[in-house]
Amino acid sequence: MKLEGVIYCGDNLYWMSRLPDEVVDLCYIDPPFFSNRNHKVIFGDGEEIRSFEDRWKGGIEDYIDWMRDRVQEIHRMLKPTGSLYLHCDWHASHYLKVMCDEVFGYSNFVSEVVWYYTSGGGRGRRWFNRKHDTILVYGKTRDYFYDGLALKDTRTKDEGSFGGYFKTDKNGRRYQEVRAGGKTYKYYIDQPKNPDDVWMVPNIPQRDLTERMGYPTQKPEALLERIIEASSNPRDLVFDCFCGCGTTLVAAQKLARRWLGIDVSPTGCKLVQHRLSELGVRAEIVDLPRTIQAPENT
Ligand SMILES: C[S@@+](CC[C@H](N)C(=O)[O-])C[C@H]1O[C@@H](n2cnc3c(N)ncnc32)[C@H](O)[C@@H]1O
Repeated sequence: MKLEGVIYCGDNLYWMSRLPDEVVDLCYIDPPFFSNRNHKVIFGDGEEIRSFEDRWKGGIEDYIDWMRDRVQEIHRMLKPTGSLYLHCDWHASHYLKVMCDEVFGYSNFVSEVVWYYTSGGGRGRRWFNRKHDTILVYGKTRDYFYDGLALKDTRTKDEGSFGGYFKTDKNGRRYQEVRAGGKTYKYYIDQPKNPDDVWMVPNIPQRDLTERMGYPTQKPEALLERIIEASSNPRDLVFDCFCGCGTTLVAAQKLARRWLGIDVSPTGCKLVQHRLSELGVRAEIVDLPRTIQAPENT
C-alpha cells in the first residue's frame, strides 16, 4: 500500500486497518463534530452533489465509540515522536478529551488550542456568540516533536504592559524587561516567542474566491500551516483521514512535507486532486467510485 501522495476514497477505518504501524509524523483530523446536522456540498451552479451526515442515532455514546475506533488506529500509525491534532467544538470536545486521554494516556496530552475567529460561527441571543473551535493535541509519547518557534509569533506590546516595562537598546530595538525570582529577563518585541494556545486565524470568508472550494466546513490553510510547522519537519509524513477537500494535504505540500489522505466523499477526493494539480502535483485517488470517475474518463 502506498504511504504518500495518495488519497484513499472510502471509510477511514477500513483503510487505516490496512496501513502499517508507526509511519506517521503528524496527524490532523477534522471529523464530524456531533453537530446533529447534515452538511451539504453545493457548487457554483447551485447543484447539490454530495453531503456528509453528522447525526448519531445512538447519541453521544455512539459517536464517541465511532471516534474511539478511529483514534486507536491513528495512535497505532503514529511514530513515537508523532502527534495528533483533533479538531472539534463545544458539541463533543469534553467527551473526546476523555476518550483521547484513555487511548493516548492522560500524560500524553499536550495542549488544547483554541482557534478564535471573528467571522462565521454562531450568533446567540441566550448564549455568547460561538466564535471558537477546540483542537486537542496529543503526543504518542513524551518524545513528541515540537517547534513552537517555527511559527514566528512575536510579542505584542500590550501583552507586556502588565508584566514588565519596555526599553529601547542602542540599536533602536524595543524590548521588555521582566524581573522574576530575583532574575531579570530581556525579551525583544520582534523576537519569536513560544506561541500561546489561543490562535486568531481568520476564517475563510463565505464569498472568498481564492481559497474557498465550496466544500462544507473547509478550514483555512493558514490554520493548517501553523499546525504543520509546529509539529513536523520537511519530508515528514502528514496524515489526514477526514481530509475533506484537502486543506491539510495542500498545506503539507506547500511546506515540503509528504502527505497521505483518506475521505469517504468522492467529491472531496476529487477536489483534493484538483487543488493539488494547481500546485503541479499529480495526486492518485485509490478506489474512487466508477460513477464519479466516468465523466473524466470518457
Ligand atoms: C469537517 S469535514 C473535513 C474538512 C477538511 N478539514 C477541509 O478543510 O476540507 C469532515 C470530513 O470527514 C469525512 N468523513 C466522514 N466520515 C468518514 C469516514 N468514516 N471515513 C472517511 N472520511 C469520513 C467527510 O466526508 C468530510 O469530508
